[in-house]
Amino acid sequence: MSAACNVEPGVKRDDFKMAEMFDHVLPTRYAVMERRTLPMNLKDTVKQKYGKIASRVAEGGAACCCGSNVPEGIAQANRMSHGIYHKDDMAGIPTAAITASLGCGNPAALAGLHPGQTVLDLGSGGGIDVFLSARRVGPSGKVYGLDMTEEMLALARENQKLAGVENVEFLKGEIENIPLPDNSVDVVISNCVINLSVDKRRVLREVFRTLKPGGRFAVSDVVLCGEIPETLQNNPQLWAGCVAGAMREPRYKSELAAAGFVDIRIEPTRIFSAGDLRACLAAAGSEALSVADQVDGKIMSAFVRATKPAKM
Ligand SMILES: C[S@@+](CC[C@H](N)C(=O)[O-])C[C@H]1O[C@@H](n2cnc3c(N)ncnc32)[C@H](O)[C@@H]1O
Repeated sequence: MSAACNVEPGVKRDDFKMAEMFDHVLPTRYAVMERRTLPMNLKDTVKQKYGKIASRVAEGGAACCCGSNVPEGIAQANRMSHGIYHKDDMAGIPTAAITASLGCGNPAALAGLHPGQTVLDLGSGGGIDVFLSARRVGPSGKVYGLDMTEEMLALARENQKLAGVENVEFLKGEIENIPLPDNSVDVVISNCVINLSVDKRRVLREVFRTLKPGGRFAVSDVVLCGEIPETLQNNPQLWAGCVAGAMREPRYKSELAAAGFVDIRIEPTRIFSAGDLRACLAAAGSEALSVADQVDGKIMSAFVRATKPAKM
């Protein structure tokens, strides 16, 4: 593991200051900077990108890396989640759900799910983690997949029919406005999605609201363990590719703490070298590629855990 990627122990007071500095809520100097350099319609960029990927998979194509001119960001470095899922676990999962997989981890395996639990997957895509979670919670449990992109939802629902899974429901909506009641979910999982949100503070507050007391946040996400060059931070394609919107570790922890979570931990699952990221940066333009060496060891896939206190 690179020294730059040591996970800081605990949340320090300064981390809260840092969270405020980078808050997306105006007026702060840094928020103004972010708004000036990144387009306001980032959410549409994200929706269009994943809509195109879902359509391509529904037509029998690949989600990533096959000569497409759509840069797939971190998924490209992950080469379609190779190595993330155990091949035995893929038995019975529809091919299109596997092909559409764009995650950076295996939250269903790491979340410690139990039969009978209610699980919510934020940004469920083609549904792979929903189906894997559904096995773990069994017929007495229920798994919701939430996604804002119509084409992804259509693909996931088609996959559900193919898999013949009944304890699953795909919901249309945004992770910033979760369409579920307060205190209704045991575990919130997600795979490479929270980094895409333009309002992460709101997402974490929504997760806190929907979790039952004692409920758990168990999420795979892209996390930064160092400063990445501004040219990458301001690249909308790299935002949609799960790189530019990623939070640094201290900010992730402080945002979780500010939402009310306790027992916050960030565990690296893969740290990307400059070489791992070269293709993804090249697809985002020559300027992005030119700074590849500066991101060596600064971007990681991580498993992020936190708990909603049992007593408030
Ligand atoms: C990188 S893909 C990951 C999909 C899936 N979790 C997986 O591992 O294959 C991101 C997914 O999140 C969805 N998404 C991104 N931002 C969202 C938001 N703000 N609200 C709801 N869904 C969102 C996209 O439509 C897309 O399906």
